[in-house]
Amino acid sequence: MKRIILTILLGAALASQARADGGMWLPSLISQRIKDMRSQGCRLSAEDIYSINQASLKDAVMLFGGGCTGEMISDEGLLITNHHCGYRYIQMHSSVEHDYLRDGFWAMNRSSELPNPGLSVMFLERMEDVTDKVLAGVTVSMTESQRDSVVKAASSSLAEAASREGKGFKAEVEPLYYGNIYYLFVYREYRDVRLVGAPASSIGKFGGDTDNWMWPRHTGDFSIFRIYADKDNNPAEYSEDNVPYVPKRSLRISRKGVSEGDFTFVYGFPGTTREYLHSAGVSYVAEMSDPVKIDLRTRRLSIMKKYMDQSQAVRIQYSSKSASVANSWKKWQGEVLGLEKNHVADSKKAFERDFASWAKGGRYDGVLERLETIYSKLNPLELARDIYLETANVIELTTFAYNAGVLAVKKDSAALVKLADAFYKDWVPAIDREVFSAMMTEYDRLMADEFKCPFYKEKMNEYGSAEKWGEAIFDGSVFADRAKLEAALAQGDGFKSDPAYLFATGFSSWYYKDIVPERKKLTLELDLAYRDYMKAQMDYRPKYPFFPDANLTLRVTYGKVAGYSPADGVTYKPVSTLKGVMEKDNPDIFDYNIPQVLRDVYASGDYARVPVCFLATNHTTGGNSGSPVMDAHGNLVGLNFDRVWEGTMSDLAYDPEICRNISLDIRYVLFILEKVAGADHLIAEMKFAD
Ligand code: ARG
Ligand code: ASP
Repeated sequence: MKRIILTILLGAALASQARADGGMWLPSLISQRIKDMRSQGCRLSAEDIYSINQASLKDAVMLFGGGCTGEMISDEGLLITNHHCGYRYIQMHSSVEHDYLRDGFWAMNRSSELPNPGLSVMFLERMEDVTDKVLAGVTVSMTESQRDSVVKAASSSLAEAASREGKGFKAEVEPLYYGNIYYLFVYREYRDVRLVGAPASSIGKFGGDTDNWMWPRHTGDFSIFRIYADKDNNPAEYSEDNVPYVPKRSLRISRKGVSEGDFTFVYGFPGTTREYLHSAGVSYVAEMSDPVKIDLRTRRLSIMKKYMDQSQAVRIQYSSKSASVANSWKKWQGEVLGLEKNHVADSKKAFERDFASWAKGGRYDGVLERLETIYSKLNPLELARDIYLETANVIELTTFAYNAGVLAVKKDSAALVKLADAFYKDWVPAIDREVFSAMMTEYDRLMADEFKCPFYKEKMNEYGSAEKWGEAIFDGSVFADRAKLEAALAQGDGFKSDPAYLFATGFSSWYYKDIVPERKKLTLELDLAYRDYMKAQMDYRPKYPFFPDANLTLRVTYGKVAGYSPADGVTYKPVSTLKGVMEKDNPDIFDYNIPQVLRDVYASGDYARVPVCFLATNHTTGGNSGSPVMDAHGNLVGLNFDRVWEGTMSDLAYDPEICRNISLDIRYVLFILEKVAGADHLIAEMKFAD
């Protein structure tokens, strides 16, 4: 009896060891996870997901615009991604007469689709373990920086060879598991990508920054583009002669959707995670870096908000700026709460204690001490850098002065004119002045004396206060006035004694002298220590399925549709509906003011239960925006676009209890296309599973 119980316990322990919480898996190794996936309801084979011999689901997925994911939804080049991923391009085509951001845009035929210079998409052709080739020239006696050069040289020659394999090929070698393994990724890049349509922001960005990172959510976060290729279906620069790209694979769309408990998986390009961090790294984020950055951004955002609330024009000028400041600001707050509530640093410490007794006397003895020593030197430097980047480096005028100065020295007047146009169009001096005073006051309070920039001390002595110094800069700089700037530039290097320019260079010369070199040295040491620590963790837990941290390479993650409990006494359901959009609808609140046409459509039929968004336990991060969310059969059921606030610590520690990804239900996309956009011609191109 005892033996049986012991066997059962042991079996359970092993099984739970083999079960990962979260995970972003390499598609080419998905055969290692397929058993677990199938045990959770998946009906596909590993070959269906990733194959080098035939078209597989991976061929429908692409890196969109260098930072998002998109997927093919027709065999005539149609792709779908998030509204917030297409935002820049929608904005680029918008003007007062055609405000596509405000009103939406739908090309009713192919000749009305809008080209987007600079936008490209990349499909993964294949990936390959090249560790042996990359490390072939590395010897044990090498220093870390010698190893680094050998690795870089081998990587770039492998990548270069692969990029010559075909038209539009691009290749990269990326380290995984902190450089224990190297993979070659071979992509095909398409550069003629046209805007087909996007809903009005009041649908595509419904809820705005108020609902961002939150559940319940009702955002119709999608936009649609079309890829064009040359007559042979090869990548080509924009040309009127190009034809719609025929993909190796496009996704079938499910009209059935998914419900609570159903298996789902996400294919996409997650940007950065750090799941195997030492406790000192976690504490740095939770106790030093995030709180300081949150505090600084709270001040900056409240200044912006004050002016945005007073003027419609200012609101438009600063909406995109404040949205991007607010996005990370809000995420960091959720991250700190999650790290604290889950005692992540403490559980890392407990793990480290056990690990240390296992490692004692062996080849990894001392690796934790090495990490601790490096962190104790690196953390103060990182904090100084964070403070600099969030204070002196956020002043719009001085940043512009610096960048314009660089272009003036290079005599690149075309770029300078472009930069100046963009700057003056959306610059409100009163906001920037107030931000300057607030940030310089905070700099004084937060920056440790030993790191305070000498230029800062000198100027504060001279002017006595941040306000006075600010006045001297904002009243005295030619960069604050376009006409004066042009006159100064005509004179040659007249700008070099300008107070805004001097401010920027004063800080940056400190940064490049006092922070950058030492930080680089310590980061290299840290990389080396992590390479050992990562390997050690894998040896210590041989049965645990370690996934490589995200690095903007293609991954598969899987989970189930599930709600969660954000607080005691509260549970969230995993599905939101159009009824909820109507409940939030309020013409007086900018973020919740839906277009009249949606109100009319709603009133005209029985649409309360149209699904809008759903939650699942897929482990995702920034870069997964726009990723296809698929059901057990690989049919498209949604578009990933966000995570819940309480679970944003998943970048450092995934907790299946509260980490959820938020997806847009594909049926809401179809509803908007049909009822609001009248874009039946697009629906006609799609293939449906049911
Ligand atoms: N939080 C999401 C992400 O990190 C969506 C951001 C766009 N939406 C917004 N309201 N700013 O990208
Ligand atoms: N919203 C993120 C993105 O744009 C996704 C996330 O961080 O969950 O990629």
